[in-house]
Amino acid sequence: MKKINLKILLISLISSTQLNCVQLNQADFLVHYHPHKNVQELVKSKEKSDLSYKELMQQFGRAYSMIQKGVIEQDKVTIEIGLDSIDTHPVPKEKPWSIISKDNQEAFKASLLYYDNQLHNNIIDIKESLKTNNWILINQKVFDLSNQCISCHMTWKDNTLNN
Ligand code: HEC
Repeated sequence: MKKINLKILLISLISSTQLNCVQLNQADFLVHYHPHKNVQELVKSKEKSDLSYKELMQQFGRAYSMIQKGVIEQDKVTIEIGLDSIDTHPVPKEKPWSIISKDNQEAFKASLLYYDNQLHNNIIDIKESLKTNNWILINQKVFDLSNQCISCHMTWKDNTLNN
């Protein structure tokens, strides 16, 4: 299994955060900024479940499909249901970082904190866009959400202990 370089990961996370910040004005940034301090606090803040990490991800996949269906059908209720399922997701039965090798756990914890905040902010943006009937804008915001999923997957999806 390849060892993920924590320094490179952090640099890429920080530079993509800065890019995102440039696009926001100051007021938006303050509204959006309420990350968890550490990963233990993050896990404690969510409901427990009997799901494995993989099953939780399958639930994310179904929620994302619903969101896309809602966009194509211009059905805001379906979109909201999918968004809420991701936004209020529970924690898996095991500690999420237990799916990653010991060497890479600290880097994965950093990703969990970072992406939790990103997904949450993307969902706020989609909900904001749903106040309009600009379906091109809504679709763009939904696409932005999927980019977060994909960028975490590029680092981690095939680097779990199951692989
Ligand atoms: C913190 C990183 C991270 C984020 C963010 C993330 N995923 Fe995942 N995802 C993973 C990992 C790790 C796996 C592999 C899990 C495994 O194989 O046990 C995975 C696997 C998946 C799978 C495949 C499940 C299977 O049956 O093999 C789907 C579907 C999925 N994620 C959907 C999503 C969607 C949709 C989002 C965004 C809304 C998302 N994920 C965000 C880390 C992440």
